[in-house]
Amino acid sequence: MQLQLATWQEVEAYLTQSRGIIMPIGSTEQHGPNGLVGTDALCAEVIARGVGDKTGACVAPTISVGMAQHHLGFPGSITLRPSTLIQLIKDYVQSLQRHGFERFFFVNGHGGNIATVTAAFSELYAERSLDPRSNAPGIRCELRNWWTGPGIGALSKQLFGDAEGSHATASEVSVTQYAFPDSIKSARMEPKVAPRGKFYDADDYRRRFADGRIGSDPSLATPEHGKRFYETAVDEISVDYRKFIADDPVGG
Ligand code: NI
Repeated sequence: MQLQLATWQEVEAYLTQSRGIIMPIGSTEQHGPNGLVGTDALCAEVIARGVGDKTGACVAPTISVGMAQHHLGFPGSITLRPSTLIQLIKDYVQSLQRHGFERFFFVNGHGGNIATVTAAFSELYAERSLDPRSNAPGIRCELRNWWTGPGIGALSKQLFGDAEGSHATASEVSVTQYAFPDSIKSARMEPKVAPRGKFYDADDYRRRFADGRIGSDPSLATPEHGKRFYETAVDEISVDYRKFIADDPVGG
């Protein structure tokens, strides 16, 4: 069930059955010569919706802009400061908490979000831990990166080997090609596999990674591969969502 396509009465009825909700979160940032600026948000969204369809879970609106300061050297990239993203996540969670949601399962599409999202969870827990007299229900938050399941890792290794890389990867570009076939782009990769390495701010990133990629060859992406990544991710993440909800009967 997509929250945005439900009425408030349907949400109220859902809450009598489950206190869990899936929160897709991504980023709006450059993804190399053939990757869409929305790649991370789009991957998180389509996979989260697939998990929602498979498990019957409610899926919240996608948080489409994340922590991407290092990509600002490339046109189209948008970032929230870590402090802004923490406040945004707290407001989303606490709004939903007011209605009775207690289990928040974030499906993440962007590695650069991990530290900030985890910090937001700690801020949420700290508010209750520091106020033991609070009447607010205890909440639990989980962060699940769509690309980290064992099936996804095996598929990536099989299809792309070392050319998967870590940014503008062939697997994420494949997922968007499968989900948005009208927006498939072609581009020549030079060099074929992008350099690897660390980076600091946006200017530093652009100097080190001229076309935006890190360690990847996304010209290997195809919509057919994307279908396999999508289906594998939905299967693996659905199992993890069910485990997360079943971990405490109160949350079921
Ligand atoms: Ni990405």
